[in-house]
Amino acid sequence: MKKLIVLLPLVCLLAPVGLVWQACSDEKNCATQPLNPNGDSELALLMRAMFEDGMRVKVQILKGETPDIQVDFKQILTAKATAPEKMQTADFEPLATSYVQAMRALDAAKPEEAAQLFTTMVTTCMNCHHNTCPGPVVRIKKLFLESN
Ligand code: HEC
Repeated sequence: MKKLIVLLPLVCLLAPVGLVWQACSDEKNCATQPLNPNGDSELALLMRAMFEDGMRVKVQILKGETPDIQVDFKQILTAKATAPEKMQTADFEPLATSYVQAMRALDAAKPEEAAQLFTTMVTTCMNCHHNTCPGPVVRIKKLFLESN
């Protein structure tokens, strides 16, 4: 019990540090400072939802089910980032638009096209992250159908 009392505050202290690190290690266009006490920008929250929804859709596709997308993916074009001024690079909007188009195509996919269109969609995540925010790349790779 004593150990737990010592450990708990330590975990609470370290958790926010972990979140900021996760948001985007220390890359030039990425967040280094949390915007609010939780460190969660609108865009960061949306990204987490995109990842969780993607994992769910991945399982559906692996089971041969029709993907049922629930995340409001169009928000990527308007959500506020942790460092909004740095997101206004020439690359962000075209990369976000190609993600939105890939999600639309996946949403309208016939069952036999779903796997291919899902892979294309995950590639659009990777393209933007390589460009603007490499921190989460390792996590995003888990979305690929062949990874487990
Ligand atoms: C157009 C660029 C772009 C695309 C496309 C994109 N991301 Fe991101 N992502 C970002 C940026 C920028 C951040 C940092 C957000 C912030 O800190 O406000 C981020 C942050 C993240 C994070 C960290 C969130 C956190 O916990 O703080 C994850 C996970 C993530 N993205 C996953 C994904 C996944 C999965 C996809 C595709 C389904 C995707 N991203 C597509 C730009 C993009």
